[in-house]
Amino acid sequence: MQPQVKLLQLFDWDSLHEKARLREELATGLLQPQASIAPKFFYDALGSRLFEAITELPEYYPTRTEAAIFSEHLPAIGEALGTDFTLIDLGCGSCVKAGRLFHAGLLPARYVAVDISVDFLRDSLHKLKRELPAIDMTGLGLDFTDELQLPAELPPQKRMFFYPGSSIGNFSPPEACTFLKRLAGQMDATGGLLIGVDLIKDKAVLDAAYDDPLGVTAAFNRNLLRHVNARLDADFAIGDWQHLAFFNEADARIEMHLVARRELDVSWPDGAGRGSRHFAAGERIHTENSYKYSPAGFRTLLSAAGFTDIRMWTDPRAWFGLFFARQAATRT
Ligand code: AVJ
Repeated sequence: MQPQVKLLQLFDWDSLHEKARLREELATGLLQPQASIAPKFFYDALGSRLFEAITELPEYYPTRTEAAIFSEHLPAIGEALGTDFTLIDLGCGSCVKAGRLFHAGLLPARYVAVDISVDFLRDSLHKLKRELPAIDMTGLGLDFTDELQLPAELPPQKRMFFYPGSSIGNFSPPEACTFLKRLAGQMDATGGLLIGVDLIKDKAVLDAAYDDPLGVTAAFNRNLLRHVNARLDADFAIGDWQHLAFFNEADARIEMHLVARRELDVSWPDGAGRGSRHFAAGERIHTENSYKYSPAGFRTLLSAAGFTDIRMWTDPRAWFGLFFARQAATRT
């Protein structure tokens, strides 16, 4: 018998309502003077697998550096989380990071796994449940960057939000502050946040991490167009677009773009007809920002967002920071 997990799907790429919203979002981004497509379009089932492959690249240091910080500081992390807590995993992907914590003995009373890639989430969670049948597990298929609707039956105490992998970097710093404030608003003073943050470092290291010689990151970037074609009936010719990624030092962020290899037109359904845009050769679609922080900069962000008792664990090169903070209860 399959061990039971609860699955609540609140996001459905294929529902008519969602499709209309996504189409509008796509058109708005593409018709901007600097065209853009949101990074959430990376994560269809193939995109999630391509991201998994990225994490195994020698150049992509964040995942393995974060994992090393976890194993090095496990007792302190366990102490920070305490016992009988609910772990709410934002963007759980394959759930392996949470799984590693559980196997290492940091056991929550409840595990809530949240991800926009619903099919991937279902498979990952079933697999984890077979390994750890004693933990109560719920999957939430939703876009938590829009709105985080937690199940009503979830106890308000000891909600520990788990946001590893430096996904917070996809938000601009002001957006990140708003998002973290919303998280703080979803817990009481017994709750906390365990969050991984990529730190500012040498440009050459950062550039290589997002433009690997094998071309996996390029495939991940271009897959976004394949996903948009499949879901929203756009007509991108994938081969016409080239991967571009670099560290923008002035803004402390990695930027990923897709660059038109030649002059071309792209169209997509728009009401009864089709919307379209002309691209000159060399024109770009901005697909992702990945902000990097200094330890002090991220501390400031956390306290501005309503967190306190902030601590950070890092690796010997200080390439990545794992932060833990509690909700600051005093509110007027
Ligand atoms: C999943 C947002 C943390 O920014 O490093 C990896 C995504 N993009 N390579 C990151 C990503 C290109 C990743 N995050």
